[in-house]
Amino acid sequence: MTEQGMETMQTKYWKASPNAEAFDPAILEAAEYLRSGRLVAFPTETVYGLGANALSTEAVEKIFQAKGRPSDNPLIVHIADPGQLDDLVLEYDAPVKQLIEAFWPGPLTLVLPVRPGAVSPRVTAGLSTIAVRMPDHPLALHLIRAAGCPVAAPSANRSGKPSPTAAEHVRNDLDGRIDGILDGGHSGVGLESTVVEWADGKVWILRPGGITPEDIRRLGLAVELDASLQSTGGDSSDAASSFDGVKEAGGPTPRSPGMKYRHYAPKGMLSIVQGDNPQKVSAYIQERIDEAKAKGEKTGILAFEEHLPYYRADVVLSCGSQDDLSSAGKLLYDALREFDREGVSYILAEGFREDGLGLAVMNRLHKAAGGRLIHI
Ligand code: TXA
Ligand code: MG
Repeated sequence: MTEQGMETMQTKYWKASPNAEAFDPAILEAAEYLRSGRLVAFPTETVYGLGANALSTEAVEKIFQAKGRPSDNPLIVHIADPGQLDDLVLEYDAPVKQLIEAFWPGPLTLVLPVRPGAVSPRVTAGLSTIAVRMPDHPLALHLIRAAGCPVAAPSANRSGKPSPTAAEHVRNDLDGRIDGILDGGHSGVGLESTVVEWADGKVWILRPGGITPEDIRRLGLAVELDASLQSTGGDSSDAASSFDGVKEAGGPTPRSPGMKYRHYAPKGMLSIVQGDNPQKVSAYIQERIDEAKAKGEKTGILAFEEHLPYYRADVVLSCGSQDDLSSAGKLLYDALREFDREGVSYILAEGFREDGLGLAVMNRLHKAAGGRLIHI
């Protein structure tokens, strides 16, 4: 038995090209695993998901065990066709249809009233709503279609670790704890989907992601951020590292249960430095890094490509150009894992503008930093 009381098991590996045909033997075997109640990690356009047959309580239960996930955090159900939605949810309003037409397949998760008995109650953690999305990745779509069931899938990482954007990350976190991994290369967006709920004539963003508030406003719909997202700044806790399922202190209770947990944390102490004057930010970061180094810390900096020449630290990583936040989305989780691999103990990251994709990137970075944000 392992530390979590789980038997270790043999994890099967399949490799498939992202453009594989629907009848690729790897996909068909992985689908059979899913149908028969086993856990299979698979690529989506956002991050890798850890899939289980959403109809089977026994299968879904294994997700919580493998990840060490708090049981009150519900799962997203993945479908391969918008038509499958009607089996899962009760009636919905026209704007929801608009969102589906505009963004599915894609990184948008809809929270809707669940059709009683449609999936295992473990999927929804006892809520009266269910989160559903149709991923925009050919392998994921082939797999879900071949499995012939809705697939419950959280991100395929151990709870509290950064979400996996490559099969290798899944292997590091979950080898021996799950039945299989379908390796389909790197995921695209790099950040999890945007989670939204339609209520009171507005689209409420419960978790920011690849579909931005601006994208949704362009459909002529009113958009509002959940209260828990409107208070990112300010506090700085002294916790040196995070633990699985540790609740973040303070602030309004989020409507998306998963958002109350501290997430995506590297092992080192990470803080964000933000300010209007880039020169001042760089100078401040370098000064603090030099101090930390003098105290014997292994130091790391996460910065925009354009600013890399200004920095000296044990590990300096790029989050891409400041003119292209989509690369920050793609690189963020890789960077957090890289700091861990290098054993970095003290990390400073440059902050992002919170418009467009920057909202999602800052949200994840803020969580990774356990709320430590320094305004200068
Ligand atoms: O991009 C993604 O969404 C990835 C890939 C694998 O599809 N999945 C993912 O799942 O990020 P997970 O479990 O790591 O995050 C699901 C989020 C959590 O914050 C959870 O609380 C929220 O969705 N959620 C699930 N069901 C909900 C519900 N009924 N009401 C509100 N929030 C819900
Ligand atoms: Mg997750």
